[in-house]
Amino acid sequence: MRTITHIDRMQKVSDDLKKEGKTIGFVPTMGFIHEGHLSLIDIANKNADVTVASLFVNPKQFTPTEDYRCYPRNLARDKKLLKKRGCSIFFYPDVDAMYSKYFKTEVYVRNLSKLLCGVRRKTHFKGVTTVVAKLFNILKPDIAVFGQKDAQQVIILKRMVEDLNFDVKIVIGPIIREDDGLAMSSRNIYLKKKEREEASVIFKSLKEAEKMIHDGERNASRIKKRMRRMISTKKSAAIDYIRIVETKELRSVNEINGEILIAVACFFGKARLIDNIIINL
Ligand code: PAJ
Repeated sequence: MRTITHIDRMQKVSDDLKKEGKTIGFVPTMGFIHEGHLSLIDIANKNADVTVASLFVNPKQFTPTEDYRCYPRNLARDKKLLKKRGCSIFFYPDVDAMYSKYFKTEVYVRNLSKLLCGVRRKTHFKGVTTVVAKLFNILKPDIAVFGQKDAQQVIILKRMVEDLNFDVKIVIGPIIREDDGLAMSSRNIYLKKKEREEASVIFKSLKEAEKMIHDGERNASRIKKRMRRMISTKKSAAIDYIRIVETKELRSVNEINGEILIAVACFFGKARLIDNIIINL
């Protein structure tokens, strides 16, 4: 696996690959690699000739009170895992190179960025869309692979790609989970023992919602109420939101119909965890 830190070099390498007729599969990450990230590498390997993974802990997507400075990092381990999984190029740019002191341009997907996680994390998605737009311009990937774990991120990035005519195909990988159902996340490392045990209730509440719908329940309020009650039995849980929305505009639905997203954000101690499930009726 080749490591590239300079933006110019990365652009040149991508251009050369294209000239050789090779397709580029791209997996952007913020590192502290786990099986969720690696599953996206597998998808890129299957769908493109060359897989590039980036590691950039993007300061612009952290709000001022969040964990940018202490975001978990382990560069040596990350590189080893990515290499072993068949990633060919590791792009690891510097913050000052990505955001020079004159940096002024931002990409913002209106409305969608304000909802769900955007209520608490007001500037988060603007940071995500800005950095992903930059990475797309640097790498010029044919496909870019993202995880369903961050359902709102996927919906927003697909909107950005369509609205701004980025010539890249977005591919979505399923949520990879621990044995007890907890969605893998770099932030799970923050969980204390009891919090870690209790955190699996998020997925259990989503499965319960799925079962209710399967059994004929169509009333969104009743489903959310049952989920809230389940999660609230755990002492370390502090619910941020439980929402049931349609997947185009992220508007709340009263009645379960068509394609809906059930999304949960919940604090366990200092870790804010998110999870979701899509249901198609
Ligand atoms: P990060 O949280 O490191 O996640 C990188 C990619 O891995 C994202 O597409 C995310 O959805 C996916 N992912 C994380 N956990 C997953 C899981 N359990 N199963 C499947 N996929 C999972 O998301 C970001 O970084 C950043 O916002 C980024 C897109 C890199 C922009 O900075």
